[in-house]
Amino acid sequence: MEDIRARILALAEGTLPDHAGWVALIQDASEEDRLFSRNLARERAQARFGRQVFFRGIIEFTNHCKNDCYYCGIRRSNRELSRYRLTEDEVLTCCKEGYKLGYRTFVLQGGEDGWWTDEKITALVRRIRAAYPDCAITLSIGEKSRQAYQAFFDAGADRYLLRHETADCAHYGKLHPPAQALENRMRCLFDLKEIGYQTGAGMMIGAPYQTADTLASDFAFLAKLRPQMVGIGPFLPHRDTPFREFPAGSAEQTLYLLSLVRLMLPDALLPATTALGTLDGRGRQEGVLSGCNVVMPNLSPMAVRKKYLLYDHKAGTEDSGESSLQKLRAQMQEIGYAVAVGRGDFTSGRDA
Ligand code: 5AD
Repeated sequence: MEDIRARILALAEGTLPDHAGWVALIQDASEEDRLFSRNLARERAQARFGRQVFFRGIIEFTNHCKNDCYYCGIRRSNRELSRYRLTEDEVLTCCKEGYKLGYRTFVLQGGEDGWWTDEKITALVRRIRAAYPDCAITLSIGEKSRQAYQAFFDAGADRYLLRHETADCAHYGKLHPPAQALENRMRCLFDLKEIGYQTGAGMMIGAPYQTADTLASDFAFLAKLRPQMVGIGPFLPHRDTPFREFPAGSAEQTLYLLSLVRLMLPDALLPATTALGTLDGRGRQEGVLSGCNVVMPNLSPMAVRKKYLLYDHKAGTEDSGESSLQKLRAQMQEIGYAVAVGRGDFTSGRDA
């Protein structure tokens, strides 16, 4: 449709659609329109970043979680899961291995684990910061107080990933139990940005009860927050969650929506996620060819990989840190992209 092409081009030139405009982009785009957007997003990303993808090593350091998100395999109520947490020394060993492999960003991701108090996290960050002054430290450990975020930042954390999951209050209530509220998530995201973190928000595509309307709210929210990073992957069901019977999100829709994010936020760090690679063997490559510029290989110890399953059939649980890296590097080379070592910080196009 002419109209959709015009809207995609307008977005690429910095004109934000209104709510109805987002809804139209999300639900009325033809297959050709979707490819048009993905190709344009790829061109824009290449012009901005070159044919390069930033690699980050992800360390899943605890699967204990006090939350009970209906979609997530490590939710508190999942009794089938064997729980683990790495010790501080084990996390440092992962960093050491990652550093040797060339990583200059470590992503510490975990459930909201009460054992890891704010003090313990602060001490851990301080140790990593002291040992690896040239590396970026990214945290992805959920909702905390502003004081805690400030303490982690002062200890040396640079970035924070906290997907908003959905910007629609009623939808948020269908994905989470009443104890979890969208309002606090939003508070966290704005606190993180104000403190000075490179901040990541994001959502799953094809999550149960998601509609073009809730997605339009997600895009409007991303436009308002202007996060430096956006994590978007398909919803994938997990057998031991209340959402076990829901279908997975579609790879095509995920790729198209990723391209819209790229066009809206030309400087953003946009990962081609493990979930996308799990849904489709070529998913991460297609992600990069639709505007993504980050890949996050797993650095967690082999012994715990199968225990950090947010969804079924997660890719990469059989590979060591080294072979995860080699496989993804080969995938990127296959499509003519190089792996960028280095911290790969967010920079605004205006400074570049
Ligand atoms: N499918 C896809 N993504 C999921 N996440 C959690 N559970 C699933 C699932 N079943 C995502 C959430 C969370 C991130 C760490 O992983 O969006 O923020």
